[in-house]
Amino acid sequence: MALRAVARVNLAAIERNTERLRRATAGQARLCAVVKANGYGHGAAAAGRAALQGGATMLGVATAGEARELRDAGIEAPVLVLGALSAEELEVALDARGEVVAWDERFVDDLTAAARGPVEVHVKLDSGMGRYGTRSRQTALAVAEQVAGTSARDAGLRLAGAMTHFATADEDPEFLAVQLTAFEPFAQTLRERAQIVVHAANSAATLREPAAHFDMVRCGIAVYGCDPFNADPDAQLLEPALELTSYVAAVKLARPGESAGYGRRFIAERETWLATIPIGYGDGVNRALTNNCDILIGGRRYPMAGTVSMDNITVDVGSEPGVAVGDEAILIGRSGEERQTAEQLAHRLQTISYEVVCGISSRVTRAYHRDGAEVPDPGAGPLCDRDGARVAR
Ligand SMILES: Cc1ncc(COP(=O)(O)O)c(C=O)c1O
Repeated sequence: MALRAVARVNLAAIERNTERLRRATAGQARLCAVVKANGYGHGAAAAGRAALQGGATMLGVATAGEARELRDAGIEAPVLVLGALSAEELEVALDARGEVVAWDERFVDDLTAAARGPVEVHVKLDSGMGRYGTRSRQTALAVAEQVAGTSARDAGLRLAGAMTHFATADEDPEFLAVQLTAFEPFAQTLRERAQIVVHAANSAATLREPAAHFDMVRCGIAVYGCDPFNADPDAQLLEPALELTSYVAAVKLARPGESAGYGRRFIAERETWLATIPIGYGDGVNRALTNNCDILIGGRRYPMAGTVSMDNITVDVGSEPGVAVGDEAILIGRSGEERQTAEQLAHRLQTISYEVVCGISSRVTRAYHRDGAEVPDPGAGPLCDRDGARVAR
């Protein structure tokens, strides 16, 4: 039976993309694979395991709950929680043995109070992103001193890293250079005081700026084979790991003047066949793709016909009934010689591929394979051993 909406994820592609990113650093920097937001829609634990297999040594998440999820799946690798943590979330993050990011002294006080065992702390300088981190090098150094001092007193906190995050690595190398200039002296000072891991680069900086590699890079989007520059992943030697597929559930003839979908945004001008595909905005197909996207069926491209509804879309498959019920329909991926990338959809939506893949909803079945050979869900912790192989309960 065809599944109505499936995100098919090639774990071997994630492994190869991770290896490709490590090669970009000439193997000189470690790699933290960022698997927040359910592994950018690919499945956090499954993607995380594949990235670790490909040479990542750490996983990055945004929230305490995401760290918990990785632990519940049986992942033992170091996990860095990149985002802000409230007092309640801090408990969860520490319970999940998450490494945390600090930039103000009050947070370090909370951390000291909450720590029940050793906690690795990365101090963040805001070198120009304007979100988390302190803009003041003095404050960042004071936070680092506080962390280091605390660890001397009660062996709780350990100064583990110095970090920053780039705002324009994908689009403006000049501002990237400004941020690097602001970050380097801070990182250098901390390096002289403690054995730390210095990290700054996201995917775009990893691919474009060797001076940003330091000791570790933090890559998300490129691990999944999407292009951080929002163009063709091929150009960066990246392999898109995810295909978004559905199938033709109904085919009917529309006569001139007959319409399809809410608001009658498609009205047949000539006799044409319409295919209904059971995937919609409830699955993450953005409604702004209404009349604004192609679907690949049987190696051909067909235009969306009318409004994306919650559970379905309709496609104009032309005057010849060449499409049949049961045919596979591809929104992201390849069909014969045709290909549609997340970046192409992103352009139609005036957004970035990140939003396209993160938007694939939980209703969509995730199915995993390695270059076509089906594998059980390696995210399903209790059923898997550490290498991701399925074991009996
Ligand atoms: C702090 C931090 N580091 C690294 C990343 C990974 O970025 P990218 O997906 O562009 O590689 C993110 C993602 O937004 C992030 O927030």
